[in-house]
Amino acid sequence: MQTKYINISTINEDSIYDEIGLALQNGKLVVFPTETVYGIGANGLDEKAVKKIYEAKGRSSDNPLILHISDINMLSKITKNISFVEKKLIDAFFPGPFTLILERTPIVPDVVTAGLDTVAVRMPSNEIARKIIEHAKLPIAAPSANISGKPSGTEVTDIMDELENKVDYIVDGGKCNIGIESTVVRVIDDIPTILRPGKITKEDILKVVGKVKVDKHIFEKCNSDEKVLSPGMKHKHYAPKTKCVMVYSNNNDTLIKKINAILEDTPNSLVISTTENSNKYNAKYILDVGSKNNLDEISKNIFSTLRKVDLYNVDLAIIEGVSQEGIGLAIMNRLIRACEYNYIEC
Ligand code: TXA
Ligand code: MG
Repeated sequence: MQTKYINISTINEDSIYDEIGLALQNGKLVVFPTETVYGIGANGLDEKAVKKIYEAKGRSSDNPLILHISDINMLSKITKNISFVEKKLIDAFFPGPFTLILERTPIVPDVVTAGLDTVAVRMPSNEIARKIIEHAKLPIAAPSANISGKPSGTEVTDIMDELENKVDYIVDGGKCNIGIESTVVRVIDDIPTILRPGKITKEDILKVVGKVKVDKHIFEKCNSDEKVLSPGMKHKHYAPKTKCVMVYSNNNDTLIKKINAILEDTPNSLVISTTENSNKYNAKYILDVGSKNNLDEISKNIFSTLRKVDLYNVDLAIIEGVSQEGIGLAIMNRLIRACEYNYIEC
């Protein structure tokens, strides 16, 4: 299929949203920006359209999708039995980088939920995303815009090659503000449990509900036969083809020493470094991911930096770990998975 590219900063008339809304109603695939990452959207109530998303991404059919809504009225169509705690989370974090797993109604096709009796719901705050959903007048199923396993797309130039001619529209809204996918939460026995960390942190949730848990699989590899609360935890994700290792230390001098020692053993390597340390390594290539004192900047840059790794033809990519405070937990979760759990704490 021929992909139509739309740059929303140059074409911003309402008629363009009418066209995209109609395309979604007619079962087409639309790549669109959100505040977290780009999504590949389709009519979330149309089984055939949703199947096309799995095909375009090469995604395993046992990994369910998030339904994106633009107003709270859409929620009652697709979910039921919302509890007091769930309601509090919705009031606090919708719209925003937050996904809640809720009991689903029969209107939601099995292909969206991979046969589960729950559905993931998110109301993005990005204005372009909201307008697209509003014009479609439908909940939009959308996973991150990337081929399965690869880092999520945070700007159109990163994903053009892999998605062109696999989707009907690519809507370019510039670089995503947050750069890491939404926090995914399920309330279990009245306790919000974080299944995927993101910009909404455990501290944010604690303030609203007074209780929060973090699922152990955020940092632990799942066994293939293990039962997990979110199928996405099991799948390979965010990994460049190049072998990666993440190095973490509370002490910056120890960190620099360790990375330089690895570089001595494996000279054909690159380092993904924080700005402050970027002149401290004897490396062939250094990719600066942002200041260690600004985790929001690192979050915004991390996926596009991971996507560059394979361009350098190196034997190893060494990645500096960051603090696990706030959004640092989400950054570390993505880095550990990019390294396929190959990390050194020193
Ligand atoms: O920020 C985001 O969440 C982006 C943008 C586009 O909204 N979307 C995104 O979707 O990251 P995706 O499909 O790449 O990740 C959705 C995650 C997967 O790990 C999936 O397993 C999990 O949510 N998930 C979806 N439905 C679920 C359910 N019913 N129960 C548990 N986990 C679910
Ligand atoms: Mg994804």
